[in-house]
Amino acid sequence: MLCAASYFILLVVFAHSHLQARAASSYPLEFVDPNYIASRQFDISTHRAGTTIERWALEFSGRGPWSVTNTTVTPPSGDKHDYMSWITHSWPNCTGVTNVTLTADNEWQFCPHVDHPEENPDAVKVNIASISSFNDLADAVLYNSIASAISRANRDVYSNRAVSHLNMWFLDPEKRMNPNLNYAQMKRGPKGLLGQYGGVMELRGIVKIASGISILRVSKNDHYTPAIDQGMATWCNQYIQWLGNNIQGVRESLAINYHGSAFHAQLAALKLIANDQSGALQSIDVFFNGKFMNQIDSSGEQPLERDSGPEAQHHRTQNIAALIALARLAKFIDPSSTYWNKTTTQGGSIQSALRFAMGTAERSQVANDTRDLANSVAAVASTFGDPDGKYEAFLSKADPGYVRQPYFFWNQPLSGGDEDRDRQNMTGRPRANGAGGGCRNWFTTDSTYTFLVVVGILSAAGLFF
Ligand SMILES: *[C@@H]1O[C@H](CO)[C@@H](O)[C@H](O)[C@H]1NC(C)=O
Ligand SMILES: *[C@@H]1O[C@H](CO)[C@@H](O)[C@H](O)[C@H]1NC(C)=O
Ligand SMILES: *[C@@H]1O[C@H](CO)[C@@H](O)[C@H](O)[C@H]1NC(C)=O
Ligand SMILES: *[C@@H]1O[C@H](CO)[C@@H](O)[C@H](O)[C@H]1NC(C)=O
Ligand SMILES: *[C@@H]1O[C@H](CO)[C@@H](O)[C@H](O)[C@H]1NC(C)=O
Ligand SMILES: *[C@@H]1O[C@H](CO)[C@@H](O)[C@H](O)[C@H]1NC(C)=O
Repeated sequence: MLCAASYFILLVVFAHSHLQARAASSYPLEFVDPNYIASRQFDISTHRAGTTIERWALEFSGRGPWSVTNTTVTPPSGDKHDYMSWITHSWPNCTGVTNVTLTADNEWQFCPHVDHPEENPDAVKVNIASISSFNDLADAVLYNSIASAISRANRDVYSNRAVSHLNMWFLDPEKRMNPNLNYAQMKRGPKGLLGQYGGVMELRGIVKIASGISILRVSKNDHYTPAIDQGMATWCNQYIQWLGNNIQGVRESLAINYHGSAFHAQLAALKLIANDQSGALQSIDVFFNGKFMNQIDSSGEQPLERDSGPEAQHHRTQNIAALIALARLAKFIDPSSTYWNKTTTQGGSIQSALRFAMGTAERSQVANDTRDLANSVAAVASTFGDPDGKYEAFLSKADPGYVRQPYFFWNQPLSGGDEDRDRQNMTGRPRANGAGGGCRNWFTTDSTYTFLVVVGILSAAGLFF
């Protein structure tokens, strides 16, 4: 009875946040700590972010289901199970090509291609079955896995979805992707039809998938069966082989900038899925004692990203997200690992790189630069604390209402900014912290319950929001 009443009040309270919350969007690389999610011990302040996670799980799934075979263009191998993506700003120039009969379906094979600032709609179409599908799949697996652990009413729905997405993309004989990236970021034309090493980065979403799978494993989810687990491990081992034996994989593994960081995050995630924890930890260690040592200077600048012109800020953000994912992967496998605190040759660290990138984002003319950094700011604030309030101030400005963002849910403890302070002033109660017991983990104490009743009544009366 008490639980039912609480639930009703929560629905009333949070109906408003649903209306205001943004549509699902993809963060850069994320590795969400599976132990935290499976613990089901969540601060009351995370409730709104928790409902967003459930909504995004539904929204991302709604974009699927996904299969790499779901395309009208067959890769050069003749096998639709091969992943294929095309360079977006490349166009066929069929002037002077007279020795073949050109059709809409074969001009990408026979006409030389030239760069052009505009996107080629044919490439965009091809990339829907590869790049966009895999990114959406990764988010759908992550959010449905988290939702399967935190939801009260729909756990089976979420875990069924996460598992069926994995099954279709990686395992189903009719639909699966072959474990290679031979045709990622493919160049086209009579000189050859081959992927490029930069295309390897298109599978970095595997880090989110490793997080989702680990959540299903740690929470002992029945839908994630030993057969699926074994199938995923086999797929990952085959793809790891491809990365190590193929020129594209080897060249990408040598990259020293954000591509290199993303490569190691991908490799560690693949090994984690393949149940090779020591191998995963080893590839993280190789990264932090190698490439990382030259990535951040004494000011916190990332010199290897600085010189990429208009893309510099984007690359700083991508690299920081990869570094955080690597540190979190390591912490999950070995809680005594210390990569979060590791310093480069010049004395830079993840935290100093973030501080520097916050400054460049704030000075940037691109509106999204601050918001794109928000999940990393939250990650660092929850790991190191926020004594000078700088992280909270940044988030409040970059992403007002960030208490509703999924990243707020898994980056705890973290202050909720103005929105939470206003709530506290209204109710005269401090934000609850810690958790435990109760009919649901969000109902932590009697005072929390009272708080909800007060807010619920005010909300119902239209006074609060
Ligand atoms: C294939 O793509 C279409 C449209 O792009 C989509 O509606 C459909 O759900 C996809 N099916 C699979 C199995 O991926
Ligand atoms: C297209 O090809 C023709 C004939 O080879 C060449 O003269 C022309 O410069 C090419 N156009 C571009 C934009 O490259
Ligand atoms: C057509 O001619 C071009 C240029 O001489 C050549 O590279 C290409 O292989 C030829 N294509 C076919 C299908 O014979
Ligand atoms: C970083 O180092 C400090 C000081 O040794 C330690 O207290 C803290 O736990 C470390 N943080 C992480 C995330 O490892
Ligand atoms: C900025 O973010 C919005 C919302 O997430 C998105 O729709 C838009 O495409 C982004 N713009 C750029 C230039 O990335
Ligand atoms: C709530 O209290 C804080 C100080 O605790 C204050 O800075 C803030 O302005 C107050 N907000 C409102 C809406 O009164």
